Amino acid sequence: MRAVEYDRFGPPEVLGIHEVPTPVPGPREVLVEVHGASVDAGELPFRAGRMRGITRTKFPRRVGGDFAGRVTAVGAGVRGWRAGDAVWGVMPHFAFGAVADYVAVPEQRLARAPGNLSLLDAAALPVSGTTALTALTDKAHLTAGERLLVRGATGGVGSIAVQLGKAFGADVTALAGARNLDWVRELGADTALDYRTTRPEDLGRFDVIVDLVGTDLGAYQARLGRRGRMVALAFDLDRIVTSMLGAGLRAAVRPRRIKLFSNNPSADRIAELTRLVEAGDIRPVIDTVLPMADMAKAHRGLEAGGVRGKYVIDMGRS
Ligand SMILES: NC(=O)c1ccc[n+]([C@@H]2O[C@H](COP(=O)([O-])OP(=O)(O)OC[C@H]3O[C@@H](n4cnc5c(N)ncnc54)[C@H](OP(=O)(O)O)[C@@H]3O)[C@@H](O)[C@H]2O)c1
Repeated sequence: MRAVEYDRFGPPEVLGIHEVPTPVPGPREVLVEVHGASVDAGELPFRAGRMRGITRTKFPRRVGGDFAGRVTAVGAGVRGWRAGDAVWGVMPHFAFGAVADYVAVPEQRLARAPGNLSLLDAAALPVSGTTALTALTDKAHLTAGERLLVRGATGGVGSIAVQLGKAFGADVTALAGARNLDWVRELGADTALDYRTTRPEDLGRFDVIVDLVGTDLGAYQARLGRRGRMVALAFDLDRIVTSMLGAGLRAAVRPRRIKLFSNNPSADRIAELTRLVEAGDIRPVIDTVLPMADMAKAHRGLEAGGVRGKYVIDMGRS
């Protein structure tokens, strides 16, 4: 089968399509024929080698954290899935490789794909949707009528956080790039502000801040109201280690106000996403669908910025 891999750190051009063995599902695993997989912005610093001091380096490395497709085989002990089922899911924690013709994943990383989306459109959502959902529910406990600030509102996670915030009845302020302000309002933001010309001190107070940028966390923390909560999902890539330590310290000192987590959704959480999509509360936001051969182009696009939602890779099944 084909899989996108890289065998050295470097620019997007290190990404290539390699022929690799099709995985065989082990006990409690499901083999999925991938129809679409999303391009994960979080993987860019790994590919560029900016995380090499922090994570183990083993090549080749694959890419892709989520997928939608059809079950083609199940391993021993799997009761819930049968060949032909339309599913979507998230790769095991810190494992990548969804940009491939097939993935073998534990059955608890899957849920039924939403009946109202094509498998290609669905592929935009599992990682960004479960991350935004966990941030706003388990971590921030956002309630109707609260003021929510989404910083990084037009990206993969932010575009879902804006929609979910609205669905939960919050008053949503989006910080986004200038050319995307009208667009993010259409997505559901009550207020949209250009992040390049808005200083944190220009903003009011918020009950919940979802930060997808990672810089100036102290200045944004100061915008929280008395019972405010900030979910910090990103790190400052220009000073990764100090940024991680700083965020960790903030969360340790004020655990009720500052929340960090690494998305690792359960099957129930993925199934909850299916229900939210079928209820019409959220929809996938897709900037561009590209073939596997254009993976490097997708990384270049994300590095250039201005992307609306997600890039999705089409495995050419439909
Ligand atoms: N902890 C977790 O479990 C978890 C899970 C998923 C993602 N993440 C992290 O969350 C971050 C966002 O992920 P993503 O997939 O949403 O990435 P993305 O699609 O690249 O979105 C990032 C967004 O941030 C905007 N942005 C950049 N600088 C900004 C600034 N100074 N102020 C406000 N907005 C700014 C960008 O807008 P322009 O392009 O217009 O500049 C872009 O829309 C990444 O760092 C990722 O690693 C963490």
